Amino acid sequence: MQVQVIYATDNGNTQNAATQIASKLGATATDIASASKSDLEGFDLLILGTPTYGFGDLQSDWEQQISLLKEVDLKGKKVALFGLGDQASYNDTFVDGMGLLYDAVTELGATVVGATSTEGYDFSQSHAVRDGKFVGLALDEDNQSDETEQRIDAWVAQLA
Ligand SMILES: Cc1cc2nc3c(=O)[nH]c(=O)nc-3n(C[C@H](O)[C@H](O)[C@H](O)COP(=O)(O)O)c2cc1C
Repeated sequence: MQVQVIYATDNGNTQNAATQIASKLGATATDIASASKSDLEGFDLLILGTPTYGFGDLQSDWEQQISLLKEVDLKGKKVALFGLGDQASYNDTFVDGMGLLYDAVTELGATVVGATSTEGYDFSQSHAVRDGKFVGLALDEDNQSDETEQRIDAWVAQLA
């Protein structure tokens, strides 16, 4: 399975997660800030990650580059999502950015895989929750960094 991981980051948390996910899947991790169309094409599984900034916004490099997704044919393509957030300080916009990526790729016809349970998190609202589950992997380095490795392992096993 050819896998590509694309992420955005301000402070490195999402980059660290992307690197861990990529290494477990034998893939590379590419920053969306320097990605081009060819970085998004020709993969069996595209994994997209973002932190959430502002109040429920995508990280700024994703905001600038989101149109790249439209240049790629995502119809029927498998996409998995991960999001970094802070459930204590941003209780009602927790990992909303992942939900925005979900909206973008499903609108383009992608099939999103890798939904996860909300059990073990403590937040009131998230745009990344659909039908009672996170649309991908939610990570919280601000409050639950000790859970990250295990969450990544379980998710990668689920994807594989
Ligand atoms: C100004 C600011 C706004 C944030 N807004 C949100 C938010 O709305 N929802 C959320 O879940 N996390 C929010 N966060 C938390 C970040 O998403 C979190 O710290 C993340 O791990 C940062 O990832 P990065 O190191 O890859 O940039 C915010 C952080 C900052 C500093």
